[in-house]
Amino acid sequence: MNHRIVSPSMLSADFGNLERDTKMIDRSQAEWVHIDVMDGVFVPNISFGFPVLKAITSATKKFMDVHLMIVEPEKYVGRFADAGANLVTFHWEATDDVQKCIDLIREKGVKVGVSIKPKTPVSVLEDILPQLDLVLIMSVEPGFGGQSFIEGSTEKVRELKAMIERKGLATLIEIDGGVSRHNARELFDAGCDALVAGSAVFKAADPEAEIVAILNA
Ligand code: DX5
Ligand code: ZN
Repeated sequence: MNHRIVSPSMLSADFGNLERDTKMIDRSQAEWVHIDVMDGVFVPNISFGFPVLKAITSATKKFMDVHLMIVEPEKYVGRFADAGANLVTFHWEATDDVQKCIDLIREKGVKVGVSIKPKTPVSVLEDILPQLDLVLIMSVEPGFGGQSFIEGSTEKVRELKAMIERKGLATLIEIDGGVSRHNARELFDAGCDALVAGSAVFKAADPEAEIVAILNA
């Protein structure tokens, strides 16, 4: 069995109690913390940027999994690495220069991730895959928490897993959107290493127990 990781999305946290919610994740069995940065251009919503990332980073020792939903990520990837990201993931659709983004993140000594939207095929990753530490498959249209999982996404995970194995790589697969204890097992079985969960964790009566339930699905 693959090593299983849960990455709770802070987008669903209570921003009035950000330190409390971050410390809760810090105590939990989640290894990563998922940070959704939205610019209102790449996606029809605006979330938060550097000061909030810094506040979260200072309240936990966990691995900072930063998901950039911004246009021209090459302008900002370095600053996110400086602000505490351990992994910087940008969208393949958001830039004309994927290679430059990869190089800028790599220069900072942090991990490199590329994300694809639901309608973007896995095949676009064929040539860049050997340079990536992680691929993030979006299983909802990016922009909002609390949406329903798009069913065909599991098939994309299987296809990506096969591509990674065919090339003999160790690239991790993460999935984001509509993940809960109800589909976690299917997703881990399909080849996911990391599951992002926002509303499933933060809307649960007992978020820490929910993280365990997802890990043990
Ligand atoms: C959506 C974000 C997700 C979001 C997931 O664009 O990338 O990380 O927070 O939320 P849930 O788990 O509620 O679908
Ligand atoms: Zn995300």
